[in-house]
Amino acid sequence: MKIMEKIKAKARASVKRIVLPEGDEARTVKAAEIIASEGVAEPILLTPDFIAAAENKARLETYAADLYELRKAKGLSEEAAAKLAADPMYYGMMMVKEGDADGLVSGAVHSTGDMLRPALQIIRTAPGMKLVSSAFLLESPRTEFGEDGLLVLADCVVNPCPDAEELAGIAVATAETARTLCGFEEPRVAMLSFSSKGSAEHPLVEKVRKAAETARAIAPDLILDGELQLDAALIPEVAAIKAKGSPVAGRANVLIFPDLQSGNIGYKIAERMGGASGFAVLQGLAGPCNDLSRGCSVDDIVNTVAATAVQAGNRRRRD
Ligand SMILES: CC(C)(COP(=O)(O)OP(=O)(O)OC[C@H]1O[C@@H](n2cnc3c(N)ncnc32)[C@H](O)[C@@H]1OP(=O)(O)O)[C@@H](O)C(=O)NCCC(=O)NCCS
Repeated sequence: MKIMEKIKAKARASVKRIVLPEGDEARTVKAAEIIASEGVAEPILLTPDFIAAAENKARLETYAADLYELRKAKGLSEEAAAKLAADPMYYGMMMVKEGDADGLVSGAVHSTGDMLRPALQIIRTAPGMKLVSSAFLLESPRTEFGEDGLLVLADCVVNPCPDAEELAGIAVATAETARTLCGFEEPRVAMLSFSSKGSAEHPLVEKVRKAAETARAIAPDLILDGELQLDAALIPEVAAIKAKGSPVAGRANVLIFPDLQSGNIGYKIAERMGGASGFAVLQGLAGPCNDLSRGCSVDDIVNTVAATAVQAGNRRRRD
């Protein structure tokens, strides 16, 4: 992916510590070597042996105590917290939470939910953010779309059924990811639906319309329009017919799907039938954590670590 060269260059400019909880997995070990040798990040490989080592005992005890404090109101016992803290995924999350690492990447072995749940419970949302969601960086060989073929899509991974307010939050967060991670100078956000500008009436369309209004109220300077069909969002000739005068239609570079089913199906159609490729990053977390597909390659891990490192550099801090 062309975008990766830019992301890697940004990551190299300010080296971040990225923890890899699946530290005894072969692709992860290989990726860590490349990450270190290319200077993309400082990888920290976690293994159960590393965590249990005598010299790391004090840190494990601190994480267990802090995890208990964080989750006791939710029913976590001290014994359960001690056990969870020794699990590399939870230990890694605690490292990010406590500033001992700048970000985390996992998923070569664990499922999305296995990684998302502890991230949501421990790292939680960034200041001012209500929702964690994902942004999918999709690069198409068709350079007339988006920014030289690059489009940012959401939410294709996390929230099954966002309501209008949540959808508005996803749109604003994704525009920020497009700007800060992908370098888009002018994110142009299309709120997607099966209707363009009132061509159909349905409660599902109404939700997208309301989300567009809410997003405009949250971020009045953002170039955003909806509801729009995908063809009206991307193709100037269709936009001229279906959404004349729209500041986004025909030139969108950020696409917001109305729910997870359409988002997940949408990016897979683009990849499998359209020859596009890409990967997702999480947005809205207080510290960057990213998920891999279990079928990932060594390169995918290197790329996701680089993106995580850049997100760590852009992170909103709680002062
Ligand atoms: C994200 C997901 C893992 C949450 O799992 P869940 O079992 O529903 O978890 P819960 O609802 O118990 O939430 C766990 C915690 O995370 C919080 N949370 C859940 N979704 C959240 C979100 N999108 N943003 C911020 N916080 C969120 C909850 O408030 C809860 O916090 P608490 O325990 O402190 O009260 C779930 O929505 C999911 O599985 N999404 C789809 C993921 C997936 O399979 N994608 C496939 C494509 S790869």
